Amino acid sequence: YDNIIVDSSPEGGNGKIAIIKMNRPKALNALNDELFTDLIHATTAINNDTNVRCLILTGSTSKAFAAGADISEMKDKNFEDVYRNDMFAEWQEISKRSTSTPIIAAISGYCLGGGNELAMMCDIMVCTKNAKFGQPEINLGIIPGAGGTQRLTRMIGKSKSMYMSLTGDFMDANEAYTSGLVAKVYDDHDELIKESIQIANKVASKGSISLRACKEAINAADELSLQEGLRLERRLFHSLFATDDQKEGMAAFLEKRPANFK
Ligand code: HXC
Repeated sequence: YDNIIVDSSPEGGNGKIAIIKMNRPKALNALNDELFTDLIHATTAINNDTNVRCLILTGSTSKAFAAGADISEMKDKNFEDVYRNDMFAEWQEISKRSTSTPIIAAISGYCLGGGNELAMMCDIMVCTKNAKFGQPEINLGIIPGAGGTQRLTRMIGKSKSMYMSLTGDFMDANEAYTSGLVAKVYDDHDELIKESIQIANKVASKGSISLRACKEAINAADELSLQEGLRLERRLFHSLFATDDQKEGMAAFLEKRPANFK
């Protein structure tokens, strides 16, 4: 790949995790077509690899996760171009709907516009103290186009979401943490990567079918009524009794030993 770095056996990993680093540092990882094509290809391959149980998506430097969609690529497009090609519809490929492997977004520095939307398509967001989140599209005469008005509102509530998208102001790591946008905050990029690998190792040590079922059930909470969601959860819960992992997990508990999920 020209625009991303894929590490399928990162140092400190337990052999069941992979890392994708977005790598256009000079443009703060602005998400152009080429980068996104690379990302979809690599994510799909990892999703189809049953040995990989957790993926980390990050930036290659501490300065940016991604500063948004590539403005120079969008500048001259007109309505017909973007409508006819349904611009950014392909981003849904990365989203939790179609990628069943859990994805951790490990964020240092700028996480803006399409970059923040991409992070929110992942499953767990963690960041460094220097992370800055924003939906500054309003400054360009547009609005968020890949989930910024929808996922962000569900994650941090209407008032903060409106504030970010109407003013274009950035949110710092501390506020992102207290708002529930990120799960953890780390001191710097090195610690972020080290700790993200530890989280990924922990996730990857669980049963692969239960991980995927859990991801499916939690993501359904965005879309279903409570009754429908509870029913889906219960059915997925029931289905796990058809797996070896349920037998192993419960036997291991009663035998007072660690579970060995296959
Ligand atoms: C293209 C970008 C870019 C972007 C940064 N660069 N963001 N290029 N698209 N989104 C480039 C700059 O042009 C510059 O290139 C280099 O990266 C370094 O950026 P600087 O601005 O010089 O750095 P700095 O002064 O540190 O400011 C950092 C920044 C600023 C605050 C992040 O770059 C910025 O405001 N970027 C735009 C953020 C943004 O508006 N994102 C939303 C995009 S729209 P040169 O060649 O000059 O060195 C969007 C729509 C999504 O995402 C719709 C659905 C997917």
